[in-house]
Amino acid sequence: MSTVKIGVFGAKRGMEMINMLMGYPDAKLVAICDRHQPLLDECAEKAREHGLKIELFADFEDFFECDMDAVVLANYAVEHAPYAIRFMNSGRHVLSECLPVQTMKEAVELAETVEKTGKIYALAENCCFFKNTFEMYRRYRRGDIGEVTYAEGEYVHPMESLKEMAGFTYGDKNHWRYHIYSTYYCTHSLGPLLYITGLRPVRVIGMEVPPTDFMNQAGYNKGAAGATLIQLENGAVIKNLVGSLRKLPLIWNYQLYGTAGCMETDRWKHHMLNVYTDNEVDGVKGRSYYECKPVFENELTARVKGHGGADFYATHYFIQSILGDEEARKLSVDVYRALDMTIPGILGYRSILGGNIPIDIPDFRIRECREPYRCDIACTDPKVAGASVLPVNSFGDKNIPDSVYKMMEELWKEGEAEKAAQQK
Ligand SMILES: NC(=O)c1ccc[n+]([C@@H]2O[C@H](COP(=O)([O-])OP(=O)(O)OC[C@H]3O[C@@H](n4cnc5c(N)ncnc54)[C@H](O)[C@@H]3O)[C@@H](O)[C@H]2O)c1
Repeated sequence: MSTVKIGVFGAKRGMEMINMLMGYPDAKLVAICDRHQPLLDECAEKAREHGLKIELFADFEDFFECDMDAVVLANYAVEHAPYAIRFMNSGRHVLSECLPVQTMKEAVELAETVEKTGKIYALAENCCFFKNTFEMYRRYRRGDIGEVTYAEGEYVHPMESLKEMAGFTYGDKNHWRYHIYSTYYCTHSLGPLLYITGLRPVRVIGMEVPPTDFMNQAGYNKGAAGATLIQLENGAVIKNLVGSLRKLPLIWNYQLYGTAGCMETDRWKHHMLNVYTDNEVDGVKGRSYYECKPVFENELTARVKGHGGADFYATHYFIQSILGDEEARKLSVDVYRALDMTIPGILGYRSILGGNIPIDIPDFRIRECREPYRCDIACTDPKVAGASVLPVNSFGDKNIPDSVYKMMEELWKEGEAEKAAQQK
């Protein structure tokens, strides 16, 4: 195979991948699926501009029948696993947006489907490819700060105006963003730390911040933030913070202490890195503060701007892995690393609900470790959990009235109308 025929499922976040794939020489974007017609119209316009023939589908089953080697799953965050499993069983490779699974049962099934089918599976955890997190990866792996002893990861999404927030959920009471819990969306904050160090998490303790009034006004019932303490296999401890605290702009921040130095990103200047090394490295001993370079640069990477350009690399390494590049495969987030990044959020919430108890994190590379979780469907999504449904926060449901969701829907429609008027 010299060109990968690829489809994109979900064209909202997926638009970032669509834009990249339209100009990517080793892939042919053959199909896009989204039930939201304005997004399909936008894709049709882009395809015309690029002179490309791309099939557009509102219906998933029609999309699934399309002739493609691989798919990008950018559909709802809690629905990736069933689609990933179906696509791999039909012989297709899968790049999944975050998160890979919603339940432990799905985690078992996902790992076993990758093993059974031998298809390439990768998680599009773009935060591993920020300029400064990838520089931390390079330097850690080179031994510049020794072995990690303590680390922090933080991904705090801004809570902006209600109208801005309506764009995320459309006022749909059943939208996944309304029913996920505080620690669930943890791969942006934790993922880079596991990627950098290459270590496995073995134990988690969770705590959460209660929902704020502002979140309730926007229809959210989940805790405003989830903080987990995670022990790694070498004994190091990670503090992992994920949430929607009322803080602007979007914050990401990562810190690593090692036996021979430390590194931390600059919370307010996203491409900058602070480093301290005990030993002389590249002519510097002690403190340095500098702007990091991208993972690599060429005319293709220059076209992708999302998350400071980081959005290019997961898709690039996925396609190159399919084409047989072993180095690309090494740099991708495979299914086991994807689950290492995700399970601490799932079990961290159980720790919270259990009164902040420590919980062991299973290693899904080992078959026996999966056994206790084979039928475990507990989560906060009533459609999936049935009688095992968990409360959406540990402080008690606020019982948000339907009028709030109605108001959010109206705000979303206003926002869509404004966007359409601007595009004319
Ligand atoms: N890595 C990042 O930086 C980043 C940023 C934003 C979103 N995301 C992830 O991207 C994914 C999508 O999030 P989003 O922001 O686009 O919001 P979203 O989940 O609201 O949008 C998903 C899109 O998929 C479409 N869709 C879902 N199921 C469908 C179906 N069965 N048939 C047809 N269309 C369907 C919806 O119409 C919608 O346009 C999530 O997994 C999210 O976590 C990642």
